[in-house]
Amino acid sequence: MKSFLNVQDLGNLHQALQEAVEVKQDRFQWQHLGKNKTLLMVFFNNSLRTRLSTQKAAMNLGMNVIVLDVNAGAWKLETERGVIMDGDRSEHLLEAIPVMGSYCDLIGIRSFAGLTDREYDYAETVYHQFLKYSGRPVFAMETATVHPLQAFADLITIEEHKRKPRPKVVLTWAPHPRALPQAVPNSFAQWMNAADVDFVITHPKGYELDPAFAGNATVEYDQMKAFEGADFIYAKNWSCPGVTCPDQYGKILDDYHQMMHWTVDAAHMAVTDNAHFMHCLPVRRGMIVSDDVIEAPTSLVIPEAANREISATVVIKRMLESL
Ligand code: CP
Repeated sequence: MKSFLNVQDLGNLHQALQEAVEVKQDRFQWQHLGKNKTLLMVFFNNSLRTRLSTQKAAMNLGMNVIVLDVNAGAWKLETERGVIMDGDRSEHLLEAIPVMGSYCDLIGIRSFAGLTDREYDYAETVYHQFLKYSGRPVFAMETATVHPLQAFADLITIEEHKRKPRPKVVLTWAPHPRALPQAVPNSFAQWMNAADVDFVITHPKGYELDPAFAGNATVEYDQMKAFEGADFIYAKNWSCPGVTCPDQYGKILDDYHQMMHWTVDAAHMAVTDNAHFMHCLPVRRGMIVSDDVIEAPTSLVIPEAANREISATVVIKRMLESL
């Protein structure tokens, strides 16, 4: 595997899930694969879980790890071609990427959407520059439009906790004070569409996900109706994807104070089938979810985060095997 952005990159999803089970049984059994190999993790944005779980995964596989926080100690990088670099950006990504590639065997990239230019974000411009110019296999650690390591961990968690062969999984928009990317809901939708689940998306009008990710999911604008009989509630905020209102791309459509009835609380969970609560974290309590719901025994936010180590181990293992 030379690139990991989408669920299709893993091939047979059932096999990938089986591999996750094997990794969980003994996550150190492939240490030989990473001997004398180096993973470079490049962060253009903050992280807690991705940073720790991906580094741990690489160490499980016997790798050395270098972490670069681009905005804390590196030269400021120019990403546009054809510009006169007379500002504060001292180095161009087109030199920096092959240099980075010369020091490692695999590269993980975290580079969020700018949320101003939909075409630029949805082309995954930065990720594809790394893929083209580094000469190394590259994987997304949340890029402009996707967060596949998160979605893989989410699916592993659902597989571990489902109580029926085909559970009802609901992705719900929830309020947030700042405009957030669509990467997590995009990937979650893509992976749920590939999994054996009854998948429903609920959000206020205007937040329709890109059809490439929403696929054939049922969209239900009545949140309480969507929650009825659900087995898993996956909460997340996202800004306007610009599908039904292109001029609003990356924006919050309504003052969040007016949208607090979308916060997942006990009244919402009461109409589910004793659903598990899920969120990728970090989460704002009182905005996305109430304290009692996230602290309930049915909340999976911690096992879900722990499974990030498992999803990353499977993906890095696959990349090492294809070197
Ligand atoms: N869920 C997730 O990716 O967390 P971090 O942003 O802390 O890495």
